[in-house]
Amino acid sequence: MFSRQDKVAVAISGGKDSLSLLYCLNKLRFSVLGIHINLGIYKNNYSDESEKFVKEFGEKFNIPVLIYNLKDKQKKGIDDVVRQKKTFKVCATCGMVKRYLMNRLALENGCNVLATGHNLDDEASRLFGNILYWQEEHIEHQSLVLPEESGLLKKVKPFTFFTEKETSLYAILNGISYIREECPYSIGAKTIKYKEILNRLEFDSPGTKLRFLKGFYSFKKKINITSLRTFKGDKKCIKCGMPSTKEICIFCRTFEEHPFIIEKV
Ligand code: AMP
Ligand code: FES
Ligand code: ZN
Repeated sequence: MFSRQDKVAVAISGGKDSLSLLYCLNKLRFSVLGIHINLGIYKNNYSDESEKFVKEFGEKFNIPVLIYNLKDKQKKGIDDVVRQKKTFKVCATCGMVKRYLMNRLALENGCNVLATGHNLDDEASRLFGNILYWQEEHIEHQSLVLPEESGLLKKVKPFTFFTEKETSLYAILNGISYIREECPYSIGAKTIKYKEILNRLEFDSPGTKLRFLKGFYSFKKKINITSLRTFKGDKKCIKCGMPSTKEICIFCRTFEEHPFIIEKV
């Protein structure tokens, strides 16, 4: 995935997986930088609470952490964007914002690899959902490593084969405090239901999740499916210079086309 010559940006949400990953890579003497995005989700004080755990973590373990506040920098947080667009696809909009910013901030800070804290439960439930609805492009895209591609950093998921329970335990044993609440927009999400189903199967036959995911990766190798990046930006955004399919990228359009600003609630 990477070596000690690389500079690894670790995207940290304030949760157990990503904080454990950053702690672990730092302990193994990799060159790391934690990057956190305060998304401006104010229900249950979710974003500010998450940032609090990230700050505490950086100070406690003396690990460099960069915090980007979406509302401060772009005048709007996710709550504002969602209300303006009147969209119900909150997670899709938020996912786009996170992917764009993680990549841009990592690049701007001299990193050449971007690591996220996705764990076995995340990846197995994602695969389960994609197979259930035969989302062929998403199935092809699911990978431990996505190669670097013009303007998009190499992406890796080092904790893919650890369960949620294992990363929680690792955090607790190493004195890492983390946010326990889930994002308020994730309530009722299909992935949570898939996780519950897989946990029931796991309870009856321990090892099911791991076999399911590992089997998928070896099958993918066998039939020689290369993991392509789903985002194919053949142009450069004229505002921010990042890869884009249109003249102005979706991130810039999202944050610039609505001058009307809603105040923090
Ligand atoms: P999620 O999509 O919330 O399951 O998060 C998956 C991974 O994305 C986490 O393990 C982190 O690596 C990263 N991530 C999620 N939210 C943030 C955030 N607000 N700032 C930085 N990285 C994040
Ligand atoms: Fe983005 Fe929940 S973290 S919608
Ligand atoms: Zn742009």
